[in-house]
Amino acid sequence: MTTLRAVKGMNDVLPEALPRWRRVEAAFRAITARHGYAEVRTPIVEPTQLFIRSIGEATDIVEKEMYTFVDKGDDMLTLRPEGTASAVRAYIEHAVHGREPISKWSYLGPMFRRERPARGRYRQFWQAGVECFGDGGPFVDAEMIDMVVTLLGELGVQDLEVLVNSLGSGDTRDRYREALTAHLAPHRDRLSEDSQRRLASNPLRILDSKSPADQELCAGAPDLVDFLGPEDRAHFEGLQGALRALGTPFRVAPRLVRGLDYYSRTLFEVQGRGGELGAQNTLCGGGRYDGLVRTLGGPDVPSIGFAMGIERILLLTGGADTAPTVDVAVAVADASLREEALVLLRDLRAAGLVADGDLRGGSLKSQLRRAADKLGARAVLVLGPAESERGVVQLKDLAAHSQSEIPRAEVVLRVQALVRESK
Ligand code: HAM
Repeated sequence: MTTLRAVKGMNDVLPEALPRWRRVEAAFRAITARHGYAEVRTPIVEPTQLFIRSIGEATDIVEKEMYTFVDKGDDMLTLRPEGTASAVRAYIEHAVHGREPISKWSYLGPMFRRERPARGRYRQFWQAGVECFGDGGPFVDAEMIDMVVTLLGELGVQDLEVLVNSLGSGDTRDRYREALTAHLAPHRDRLSEDSQRRLASNPLRILDSKSPADQELCAGAPDLVDFLGPEDRAHFEGLQGALRALGTPFRVAPRLVRGLDYYSRTLFEVQGRGGELGAQNTLCGGGRYDGLVRTLGGPDVPSIGFAMGIERILLLTGGADTAPTVDVAVAVADASLREEALVLLRDLRAAGLVADGDLRGGSLKSQLRRAADKLGARAVLVLGPAESERGVVQLKDLAAHSQSEIPRAEVVLRVQALVRESK
C-alpha cells in the first residue's frame, strides 16, 4: 500500500516549529491592536463568483490558481486564495458601513493557490493582513506602510525595500493599458508565450514577467505616474510626503502594478533582500481598492489593505526550532503509585504549572532521563513507596543538582516558588 502524503505544496508545521510561528503571529496581533485593528474571521470557502468579481477574470489567480469545486448542493465554491474579497463581502453583508464610518479589520489564516511550489511559494500558505474601510487616504496609506516596516523591524527583518506606486483612479488604468499595449504590440513576436497571450487579456501583468526578453521590452515602456490626473497625483504626492514625515524609507517603482484587478491609487510592496527567498522575495503586498465595495454591491467606501506571507517572513527571520518544555515532571519509583502521580499532576496543573509525567510504567531511570532530556523539566517530583507511607515526596532540582524531601501538602507551593525564582 502506498503511504499517504500531504498534498504537494501544502506543509505540516510540527510542534517544535510552532514557537517561531507564534512569535510572528504575536508581533502581528500586537502591532495591529496598537493601531486599532480588530480581528475578523471569515470562512475559508466562498462562492467562486466572489473571487472572479473582485480579483478579476484575467488574473493568474482566477485563471489558473484557484481550488474550485462543485459541492453536493451544486454550488460552485473556491478555497480562498486571499483575504480581501472575503473581508469586503462580510463588510457589505453585515452592513458595517451603516454602523461606523471607519472599520479596521485584521486577519490571519491559510490561503490557497495552485502555484508551482518553490521555496517561499506554496499551495497552502499563511497570510496576516489588514483591511481599513472608510478612509480615502493618503495618511492612512502611509500609516499602514509604516506599520508593516515597524513590524518587520521588530521581527528582525532589516534588509528590506518598500516600493510604492499609484494606479490612479477612474480610467487611468485603462489609458495606461492602451499605451502599454501600443508600446508592446509592435514587438509581439519577441514576447514570451505567456506575455503574448496577456497582451490582449491583461497587458499590465507583462510588467511583472520574469522573462529577460519581456523585461527588456518593458524597460522602455511608459510610466504609470505620467498618466495620473491632478487629484490622483496629489494623492500620491501626499502619500510620499507622509512617508517622509514618518521617516519610512521607500522607493517609487513606476512599473509596480500587482496581480489583482481590484486596486486603484496606492500600491505597495515590501521586498526582502536576503538571498534565502530567491525569486519569492515579496514579503508583503497591498494597496487601495476604492471601487471594490461598490463592485461587490455595497456603497462607495474607499479602502486599503495589505497581507504578508508568514512562511516568507520565517525564511528570513530564521531561529532554531524549540521543543516545548515543562516546569515540573512527576516520576514514580513503583508502578503502584501511578494513581497518586495522576492526582499530583492534576494539582500542579490546577495551580498553573506546566506539569507532565510518563505513566506508562517504565523504570525510574528512564522516567528521570526523559524528564531532563525530552521535557526540559526544571524539577522532578519522585514518588516512592517509603516516602508515600510517610506523606512526603522527593523534589529533585535539576538546575541546582540538589534534592530534598517535602511534605505532600506543600509540594505545589514549593514547586511554584522554585519555578518563579528561575524565570
Ligand atoms: P498578494 O500580493 O497576492 O496580495 O499576497 C500577499 C502576500 O502573500 C505576498 O506578498 C506573499 O508574501 C504571500 N503569498 C502570496 N502567494 C503566496 C504563495 N503561493 N506562497 C507563499 N506566500 C504567498 C494579496 O493577497 C492581497 N489580498 C493583499 C491586500 C490586502 N491588498 C489589499 N488588501
